[in-house]
Amino acid sequence: MIAIFENTAKCLELSSADVKCSAVTRLARAVESGEFEFDPHTPVTPFGDAGRPVKPELVEPSKVPRRRLGSEAGRAALVHAICHIEFNAINLALDAVYRFRDMPRQYYLDWMSVAVDEARHFQLLSARLQSMGYSYGDFPAHNGLWEMARRTADDCLKRMALVPRVLEARGLDVTPGMIGRLNAVGDVDTVKILEVILDEEVRHVEIGSHWFRICCDQRGVDPEPTFLKLLREYFGASIRGPFNIPARMQAGFTQREMDAITSAEPYGSSSERAESFRT
Ligand SMILES: [Fe+2]
Ligand SMILES: [Fe+2]
Repeated sequence: MIAIFENTAKCLELSSADVKCSAVTRLARAVESGEFEFDPHTPVTPFGDAGRPVKPELVEPSKVPRRRLGSEAGRAALVHAICHIEFNAINLALDAVYRFRDMPRQYYLDWMSVAVDEARHFQLLSARLQSMGYSYGDFPAHNGLWEMARRTADDCLKRMALVPRVLEARGLDVTPGMIGRLNAVGDVDTVKILEVILDEEVRHVEIGSHWFRICCDQRGVDPEPTFLKLLREYFGASIRGPFNIPARMQAGFTQREMDAITSAEPYGSSSERAESFRT
């Protein structure tokens, strides 16, 4: 039997992307087949940096190079940016397993299944980068996703609301546009990968929606106003379009939430906009 929290912590600490992906895949297989036990005595360490390779260099979001998709280098920079998101997403899913200890058994199965999806997404994009003559680490990247993990480390409800339901949901919104731009320049290899990712990310957001609602039930709070209040607190009044409304509805957003998110000024006079999730 594998101790789930101890082994998830070990995966989190691994700094080599390849070693981390293999370890996550092994752990997720064990969890999926029921060969694990809960080890609540394994302490929850204060939130810190997860293991990651020395490169990419982390910079401010505004310093991440802009990508012109007409050139192979520009496309490689885009693939690198998404590859970096997937690397962070592995750590985010692992941290969701490791950090929050009082959730039902299915919660851990769900987030471990997300972690292994993210490892596969990373591997697909990393291989695509190699075929273009680049590697993960060749371009600077930003740390926005892990920063949101830090800001929600004290509360599973906040984590479920703001990581899967805002940041991963942003991926649902922007990926169709990227697929369109890559199709326009004939990069079918990258398109195929992004189509797989887009399809699978709907389930991740749906898992976030499900566990967000369970957290709300546990505390006797109404999910819709709770989500919208957190969105306003952390991202300002609204988030920027475009919105992939069919994918978001499939992923558990309610009509009322979508109306509030997509309306220009859902909270009265404020016109503050959230930082877009830069991919
Ligand atoms: Fe992913
Ligand atoms: Fe995901």
